Amino acid sequence: MVNHFFYNFCHTMDNIQNKTAVVTGAGSGIGYHITEELLRKGAKKVAIIDLPIVRSYDATVTLQKNFGKDRVIFFPIDLTNWEVYRETFKKIVKALNGLDILVNNAGICYDRLVEQMFAINVVAVIRSSMLGINYMSKHKGGKGGTIVNISSISGIISYPLRPVYGSSKSAVVGFGLNLEKLYSKTGVRILTICPALTITAMSTTRNENKCLDVVEEDVVKEMLNKDFFVSQSAMHVGESVVVAIQKGENGSIWIVEKNEPPYPIKLPPFVAV
Ligand SMILES: NC(=O)c1ccc[n+]([C@@H]2O[C@H](COP(=O)([O-])OP(=O)(O)OC[C@H]3O[C@@H](n4cnc5c(N)ncnc54)[C@H](O)[C@@H]3O)[C@@H](O)[C@H]2O)c1
Repeated sequence: MVNHFFYNFCHTMDNIQNKTAVVTGAGSGIGYHITEELLRKGAKKVAIIDLPIVRSYDATVTLQKNFGKDRVIFFPIDLTNWEVYRETFKKIVKALNGLDILVNNAGICYDRLVEQMFAINVVAVIRSSMLGINYMSKHKGGKGGTIVNISSISGIISYPLRPVYGSSKSAVVGFGLNLEKLYSKTGVRILTICPALTITAMSTTRNENKCLDVVEEDVVKEMLNKDFFVSQSAMHVGESVVVAIQKGENGSIWIVEKNEPPYPIKLPPFVAV
């Protein structure tokens, strides 16, 4: 019911048809399904970025088989290597012959690897957004566009289970709030997506680096009992991200949980001024 209420306030802002897009971390999980849905909704071409590993090449082959070889281009790079990403971005824009939508989705969840996690979850997202703005912004002669940053529900709630991961995701929300106000100059919409628990390699692979040793079993149990720990499919999140691209207003923050329709939220006025 609440979701439908919100929907009434959303207007169709962007059609996917014939658009070009970049999706980072598209070799698996949520990023793969965002790419699939963009292609299904008629995107002209999607450049996918991921690590040069077998899984990424396999994903590319599957997408090309299902949607056409010329509609999917794979750029195998590590996004934390800034110089390489900057040069690759130029090649991508050339290969796509433009850019309309940039989805910064790649991320990791290892609370014991603080620097590594911030390098991909925060620094790469900010660097990538800046590349996207520089290219698409009206103030630089571009035609505007959309940047989608994938945060997490853990970026807007207290998340003692993975406090480091949660704070990297809060940074993504904060970055979006700051960019929002530049829209009148850039014409580049910024959308932030906060999915709840989703079944992907990230959430199902066990690894001791995922948790700080201060996090004890009872905290884990308490968090797992919470409502948002009802898990959902990566396909649902992928489809929901595309709904947000089609309907989301600049600066909107979207919740995707429990396989239910996504909905935008407003932060309290003392936060969003
Ligand atoms: N799974 C969840 O429960 C959940 C919930 C909320 C938010 N998220 C966020 O969704 C996004 C996608 O995660 P996912 O669950 O699909 O996990 P995933 O592990 O399936 O996908 C992440 C992708 O990012 C890629 N990647 C990681 N580091 C990279 C690097 N340095 N350079 C290039 N590519 C890199 C990985 O190879 C992988 O393909 C992440 O930002 C994650 O934080 C996930």
